[in-house]
Amino acid sequence: MTRWSLAGQVQPGSDAVVVPAFTDHPKQLPSADFAAACGFTGRPGEVLRLPGAAGGPAQVLLGFGAGAALHDDVVRSATAQLARAVRGFGRLGLRLPAPDERAPGPSAIRAAVEGFLLGGYRFTRHKSVLGGLSGPEHVDLLLPEGGGAADHTALDEGRRLAAATLLARDLVNEPGQDLTPALFADRAAAVAADSGLRCEVWDEERIAAEHLGGLLAVGRSSPRPPRLVKLTYHPDRPAGHYALIGKGVTFDAGGLSLKPSAEMLTMKADMAGAAAVLGAMSVLAALHCPTRVDAWLPLTENMPNGDPVRIGDVLRMRGGRTVEIRNADAEGRLILADALTLAGECAPDAMIDVATLTDAAPIALGRKIAAVMGTDDTLVDRLRQAADRAGEPVWPLPLSDRYRWQLESPIADLVNYTIGNRHGTALLAGLFLREFVPPGIPWAHLDIQGTALCDSDDGEWVQGATGFAVRTLTTLVREPFHSPV
Ligand code: BES
Ligand code: MN
Ligand code: ZN
Repeated sequence: MTRWSLAGQVQPGSDAVVVPAFTDHPKQLPSADFAAACGFTGRPGEVLRLPGAAGGPAQVLLGFGAGAALHDDVVRSATAQLARAVRGFGRLGLRLPAPDERAPGPSAIRAAVEGFLLGGYRFTRHKSVLGGLSGPEHVDLLLPEGGGAADHTALDEGRRLAAATLLARDLVNEPGQDLTPALFADRAAAVAADSGLRCEVWDEERIAAEHLGGLLAVGRSSPRPPRLVKLTYHPDRPAGHYALIGKGVTFDAGGLSLKPSAEMLTMKADMAGAAAVLGAMSVLAALHCPTRVDAWLPLTENMPNGDPVRIGDVLRMRGGRTVEIRNADAEGRLILADALTLAGECAPDAMIDVATLTDAAPIALGRKIAAVMGTDDTLVDRLRQAADRAGEPVWPLPLSDRYRWQLESPIADLVNYTIGNRHGTALLAGLFLREFVPPGIPWAHLDIQGTALCDSDDGEWVQGATGFAVRTLTTLVREPFHSPV
């Protein structure tokens, strides 16, 4: 991974220096007329490489759009595009924008580091030949007088948050064959050992003994058995207590309600919620997070070739509620129901689940904005604020009781899906999950089905897994939650 330093001036041996450019100050650039003749306008993420003075470093102009409207999201996206344009350079000096003549602040520094590391990421584990160059090896962030203590902290946080996001991306990009529930649990245990977390892994026998009827039933659909991973970050005298729950379906073929093959194409990513939670957990100790955080990761395949759950079967979930199976492809809510029940037993101040749960979420909000639902407006607002700061947009959908009747079953307490109604299924999945949240514990649900993957490079998101929600969750849990009600 790239080495980073803060420096007051361009370091000897630098191959290039990055100069920020703005659409509203085109004349202040080096070689401004030449740049203009090349069509360079300074729009966000635009890159123009210019030769340097003889023997000196090259100059790279990097657009940040209108200097007057500079936002961390623009910084993050621009440095991401820069990272893809400067592969092959050994050492790079990076001057950040300070349009109002002051030094760039810590949050812009953090965004720049995140953007650069996330935008330059590629998943290369299964490539025999690396197409293209890698690098740069070393980036110097150029700040007046080399920056202060807050700038060093910002650099460090940016690197750690990017690394946590890349951990999630690597897991999501991994094919299902190479990341079975047992192998995911092994990876989680290794991450826990490296990052100061307690870790417990439950095998199928323990899952049965704990009456996790949803996870057990989905897990039986495959010869590769399920796992439940519990991680705990427990600082001395915690200032609060969260529970995070992540959907970990390592491959979702749909079970007996088999998906058509085109819809199966992306189903190795159906564990993106669990990966995001693991990514977030991995940095809490390094960031000195003041709250206790429990993580619950139900891990399973959803296949038709084990002893799959039949349509019409009735499952008994942890806590005793029964669920009639109407569609074996609505498996996420079954495994999350058990995990929510478990999480609630520890009585956290708030619980948040993250899941690639429904296609209806991206139908409503597109592929760049995730859906959030919840029982507590304050928690939903806090999550939205954390997401905005992290550059991971989310938008609320209502959990309306008007649709609650669709969960009713003639023979069991609930159905897992309403046949014949395609409408509002993101909300219905949310309503189903709500049934398993203990009354009185604020809960929010993030449906990241649309945002877990992206089709082509776009700012800090590169084609494939995005690592969405790692930074939102991390940002959220660093402050304790007390519901005003
Ligand atoms: N993992 C999928 C979500 C999904 C669905 C991703 C469609 C991509 C395309 C989830 O388990 C699922 O299958 N959801 C279904 C539920 C339905 C069949 C009950 C959905 O949203 O269509
Ligand atoms: Mn499914
Ligand atoms: Zn699924």
